[in-house]
Amino acid sequence: MLAMIWIFIVLIGIASVEGRTNASGVLLVNTIWSIAKSPIYITGNIGVPDNVRLTIEAGVQVIFPNNGNYQILVKGGSLTVRGSSKSSVRFIAQGLSDSNCMITFKGSQLSKSSFSYAYFEGPKGAICLQNSADGLPQNAYTVRSEFVTFNRTTILAAGDLNKNGNNSKQH
Ligand SMILES: *[C@@H]1O[C@H](CO)[C@@H](O)[C@H](O)[C@H]1NC(C)=O
Ligand SMILES: *[C@@H]1O[C@H](CO)[C@@H](O)[C@H](O)[C@H]1NC(C)=O
Ligand SMILES: *[C@@H]1O[C@H](CO)[C@@H](O)[C@H](O)[C@H]1NC(C)=O
Repeated sequence: MLAMIWIFIVLIGIASVEGRTNASGVLLVNTIWSIAKSPIYITGNIGVPDNVRLTIEAGVQVIFPNNGNYQILVKGGSLTVRGSSKSSVRFIAQGLSDSNCMITFKGSQLSKSSFSYAYFEGPKGAICLQNSADGLPQNAYTVRSEFVTFNRTTILAAGDLNKNGNNSKQH
C-alpha cells in the first residue's frame, strides 16, 4: 500500500515536469494560456503589443523564476485574466524583489483588460502602471478587477490606481 502511494507521488512529479511551459518574447497574435500549458515559467520578457490580447485561463500558474528580472509588458495590447471561484489564476514570484512588476501596463487602454479571481504572491511587485515618454500614448481608463488577492506584494501605480489594491471601478 505504501509502495503504491509512493509510485503515485512520483508519477504526479513527472507529469508536472512534463507540463511545464517556458514563455518569453513578444506575442504576435492573440494568445491563450490554458491549463494544459501550466505551470508557465516566464523565462524572458513577454510583450503584448497593440491589437493583441493575452488570455490566461482558470487554474493556470504563472511563475516568475528567481533568476530573471522579467515581466509581462502590456504595451498597447490587453490582458484578460479569467480565473474562476473554484480555480484562480496564480502569479507566483520566486526569490527576491526586483525592479520589474509581474505585469506592467504602458500606453494601454486599461478598460480592455480585466482580472477575475487572480492571486499574486510576491515579493516582486504585482501590477505596475507605467507612464510612456511625452508624446506617446499613455494608459487610459481603468482596469476592471474582481476577487484579486495580493500576498506580500502590491500594485505600483503611476496613474490612478489606489495603492491599497482596490482598483475595482465599474463603468
Ligand atoms: C525551460 O527553461 C529552463 C530554465 O531556463 C531550462 O532548464 C529548460 O530546459 C527549459 N525547457 C524547455 C522545454 O525549453
Ligand atoms: C502567502 O505566501 C506565503 C509564501 O510567500 C505562503 O506561505 C502563504 O501560505 C501565503 N498565504 C496565503 C493566504 O496564500
Ligand atoms: C473599492 O473602491 C470602490 C469604488 O471606488 C468602493 O466602492 C469600494 O468600497 C472599495 N472597496 C474597498 C474594500 O475599499
